[in-house]
Amino acid sequence: MRILVVGSGGREHAIVRSLVRSPAEPELLCAPGNAGIATDARCLAIDGGVAAVVAAAVAESCDLVIVGPEAPLVDGLVDALEAAGVPAFGPSAEAARLEGSKVHAKALMAEAGVPTAGHAVLRSRTEALEHLSCASYPAVLKADGLAAGKGVIICATEAEARAAVETFFVERRFGATEVVLEEYLEGEELSLLALCDGENVVPLAPAQDYKRIFDGDRGPNTGGMGSYSPVPGFDAGRIEEIADTVHRPIVELLRRRGTPFHGVLYAGLMLTAGGPRVLEFNARFGDPETQAVLPRLTTDLLDLCLASREPGGLAGAEAAFADDWDVTVVLASAGYPESSSSGDPITGLDRVPEDVEVTHAGTARSGGGLVTAGGRVLSVTGRGATPGEARERAYAAAELIEFEGKQMRTDIAARAVQTAAAG
Ligand code: AMP
Ligand code: GLY
Repeated sequence: MRILVVGSGGREHAIVRSLVRSPAEPELLCAPGNAGIATDARCLAIDGGVAAVVAAAVAESCDLVIVGPEAPLVDGLVDALEAAGVPAFGPSAEAARLEGSKVHAKALMAEAGVPTAGHAVLRSRTEALEHLSCASYPAVLKADGLAAGKGVIICATEAEARAAVETFFVERRFGATEVVLEEYLEGEELSLLALCDGENVVPLAPAQDYKRIFDGDRGPNTGGMGSYSPVPGFDAGRIEEIADTVHRPIVELLRRRGTPFHGVLYAGLMLTAGGPRVLEFNARFGDPETQAVLPRLTTDLLDLCLASREPGGLAGAEAAFADDWDVTVVLASAGYPESSSSGDPITGLDRVPEDVEVTHAGTARSGGGLVTAGGRVLSVTGRGATPGEARERAYAAAELIEFEGKQMRTDIAARAVQTAAAG
């Protein structure tokens, strides 16, 4: 079986590594991939656009294409592949609007009765300024479309919100014509990803993701600086409860609308005093959650992906996980997230113990050596019987890897270690 994974980040490397472990021993291709993925899969040097991927998948007679990032999903890559006769894992463009439009996602949540923050849709600068004078603060403003995690501005005061409105409606920095004004929620965040076949929902292990660049959740938002899985206090019963209140009502609504959701439905949740509330839905695997979740998966990922494509194919299926903990630390290049640094030599990878999984994102080969080539460079995942052991292994390995201007958070999973020790 020949499988093509679309994407070039740590998430796609983790997907490829999971497929390497499949008993079906598939032949693996990745488009475009990166310097690390190239050691596990044959990389195709094409851009990630819909037409190029479809042409490559047809030319290579792929038996399955797994789409990693959101942009090609929203652009209809899965629809185009299926129309060309290539089986594809992921939602249709219509189903992926759950991630592609925050206004649409809010409307679906309201219709399905899924708990989320109270909100208003702002359609112009004038309308926005009217709402801001009677909003309570802090408040959250979100650009409607895809913004790589950067279209969300948390405003402590009305003055900050007014400045954000200028960014959205005057500078059009995120290209959106609509903005969601949302109630600010407090609590811990949880990422709960689930596989969906249009009807059934199979939750994966929960994970926690660290979005801010600096320790203590300070500084600007990033794509994600670390993660761990599982999460203390979230046993199978609680996970099912969340899937019942969040994922299943959405999947059922989309089924009734005739736009069934196949693929990964990722709920970003705030665990408030009043219960879990959805901050966002994504229509794909999370990055870096995937790097912490998939190494623990003991069910064959390939079987689950194939079953997700068939309506009802996941009936009775389960995603089983090892009891161990995974902690993932992201190493980013100088300047990230505002900019990134490229061409800096990376050393020390050969000293990382074999039981630590290093996945590549922004890396490239230059003159026989490995160099940085983007914002997030590597993810280092340590495994252990306790969160403390996993965290120690991840950080011991992360310290061995060096490049100019390396940035990493030092507090990934620190709270989980304390909670586990207390409980
Ligand atoms: P989103 O892309 O919608 O998940 O937002 C990115 C990040 O902004 C989230 O992971 C939260 O840390 C924060 N955030 C988003 N919405 C809210 C909210 N309503 N209240 C508090 N924080 C939020
Ligand atoms: N870790 C956040 C995301 O994948 O969107």
